[in-house]
Amino acid sequence: MLGNFTYCNPTKLYFGENALDFLSDELKNYGKNVMLCYGGGSIKKNGIYDKVVEILKASGKNVFEDGGVMPNPTVDKLYEGCKIAKENNVDLILAVGGGSVCDYSKAVSVSAYCEDDAWEKYFMRMEDVDNKIIPVGCVLTMVGTGSEMNGGSVITNPKQKLKIGHVFGENVFPKFSILNPVFTYTLPKYQMIAGIYDIFNHICEQYFSGEDDNTSDYIAEGLMKSLVNASRIAVKNPKDYEARSNIMWTATWALNTLIAKGKTTDWMVHMIGQSVGAYTNATHGMTLAAVSMAYYRHICPYGLSKFARFAKNVWNVETSEKTEEQIAADGLSAMEQWMKELGLVMNISDLGVTEDMLDGIADGAFIMDGGYKVLTKEDIIGILKESM
Ligand code: NZQ
Ligand code: ZN
Repeated sequence: MLGNFTYCNPTKLYFGENALDFLSDELKNYGKNVMLCYGGGSIKKNGIYDKVVEILKASGKNVFEDGGVMPNPTVDKLYEGCKIAKENNVDLILAVGGGSVCDYSKAVSVSAYCEDDAWEKYFMRMEDVDNKIIPVGCVLTMVGTGSEMNGGSVITNPKQKLKIGHVFGENVFPKFSILNPVFTYTLPKYQMIAGIYDIFNHICEQYFSGEDDNTSDYIAEGLMKSLVNASRIAVKNPKDYEARSNIMWTATWALNTLIAKGKTTDWMVHMIGQSVGAYTNATHGMTLAAVSMAYYRHICPYGLSKFARFAKNVWNVETSEKTEEQIAADGLSAMEQWMKELGLVMNISDLGVTEDMLDGIADGAFIMDGGYKVLTKEDIIGILKESM
C-alpha cells in the first residue's frame, strides 16, 4: 500500500430492524427546529413518514416540511430548501429517503447560509465551505449511493445540462444515519437493481486503479462477492432480510471513503453516467450500467493484470490454459451476465439518448486521471457509441 492518508468517518450508524427507535435519542442533541426533507411521496405510502413525524412530535420538535425532493435533485429545488432552512432557523435537517434526499439535505446544509451563489461556489468552482453548516441526519429508504455515510452531494442544473457532485469534508457528513433494511422492501424492482449496480460500480471505481498490493482492494473484492451473492437472492425474493441487510451494509462500505484509502481511484463511469443523467434525467444506477461494459472493455488492456485478478477473485473464472487477456475478458463477460440477470439497462439508447446528444454528453463528462487510462473526448464518444 503506497499512499499516505488520514481516515476519519464521523457518521454514527444505527443498523437493523429497530434502528428507528434510536431517533429520539439523537434528536436530544439538537435544537427545536427540524426541517424534514423527503421525496415524492413513497414515505407517505409505506408508513415511514407517519413513524418519523410521531417521533419528532413526541420529542417536542417544531417540524418544517420540505417534500417533493426529486430524484436527481435540481439547483432550483436547492434554492427553495435554503429559504425554508434559513427563514425557520433550522437546527437539524432530517433527510428521510434515498440518495437524492440525503444529497439534497447536505447541499441545503452548506448553502442556506452561503452568501455566494451555491451552485457557482460549490458545484462549478468546487470551493470549500466557509459558512455555518446545518447538521444533517438521515433515515435511509433506498440503498445504493452511500450518501448516508459520506460527504457527497450531487446536484443537477437542467438549464446548463450539468450534473455535478461535490465531495464535502467530514464536517458535512451526516451526523447520524438510521439504516433499517425493512424500509427498503417497498422499493420497485427497477430502483432496487439500479441501487445494487450503483454499489457495485462504486467499488469498481475504486478498485480499477493502481498496481500496488493494497489492502483496500482485498476489502473491495470481499464487498463485491457479498453483493453479487445477496443481489441474486434479493431479485428472487425482495423480502429476504438477510440479503437486503447485506446489500444495505455493503452500500455504506462501498462509498464511505474506506476502500479508497491509500490508492488512486478512477470514477470515469460515474463521470460519463452523470453526463448521461444530465441529458436524460435517467435513474443514476442505470446510467452507470448502460455505459459500463463499453468503458471496462475499453480500458481493460491498460489495466490487464487487475482485470485478470477481478476475474479470478470476484467471478471465480477458470484460468487453466488461458492467457491473461482471456481471463480478463471472461471476468468481464461474467459481470455482464450478472448485470443482465438482474435486469439492468445495458444501453444508453434505452435511457433516451439519441445520436445528436453524444457530443454534448462527452463535453459534460469531466475527465479524471486516476484510472488506467486518461480518456480523450474521442475515447468518450467511442464508448458512448458502443453503449448505444
Ligand atoms: O421520491 P420518492 O417518492 O421517495 O421515491 C423514490 C425515488 O423515486 C423511490 N424510493 C426511495 N425509497 C423508497 C422508494 N420507493 C419505494 N419505497 C422506498 N423505500 O426511489 C426513487 C429513487 O430515489 P433516489 O433517492 O433518487 O435514488 P438514489 O438513492 O439512487 O439516489 C440517486 C441520487 O444520488 C446521487 C445520484 O447522482 C442521484 O442524484 N449520488 C450520490 C452519491 C453520494 N452522495 O456519494 C454518489 C452516487 O454515485 C450518486 O451520484
Ligand atoms: Zn453512484
